[in-house]
Amino acid sequence: MKNKTVYIASDHAGFKLKMQLLKIFPKLADLGTKSNESVDYPDFAHKLTKHVLKNKENVGILICGTGVGMSIAANRKKGIRAGLVNSSKIARLIRKHNDANVLVLPGRFINTNEAKKCVQTFLSTKFESGRHKKRIKKI
Ligand code: RB5
Repeated sequence: MKNKTVYIASDHAGFKLKMQLLKIFPKLADLGTKSNESVDYPDFAHKLTKHVLKNKENVGILICGTGVGMSIAANRKKGIRAGLVNSSKIARLIRKHNDANVLVLPGRFINTNEAKKCVQTFLSTKFESGRHKKRIKKI
């Protein structure tokens, strides 16, 4: 899609995986963090969700240690549907059923290859709409 930007951000616990994913997917727009130095994950969740919400086509990838802190923080924002994923099967379903616009990965509990498959699947799967649209409207 023409105007689609895929953002990525992490805290220190997700930094290593973020750098590995940036090597595999160099077009991802990196919003930090920039090192292993300890930071607060909500700062990065808020930064990324702000960018994602600027355009309906945008999506994001967030990484912290467990993925839970990033999920909680991101889902506080109206219009954000963030799904915590540790397998490509779930990555497919958060797009098909939940129209998720943010993929959350648990940096300390997923290997690079599985994370790569999650990103590929998340970016290539379309929302199924139909019965799922009505459910999303109820959120
Ligand atoms: C950082 O140590 C860790 O708490 C954070 O990355 C995340 O797992 C929080 O949910």
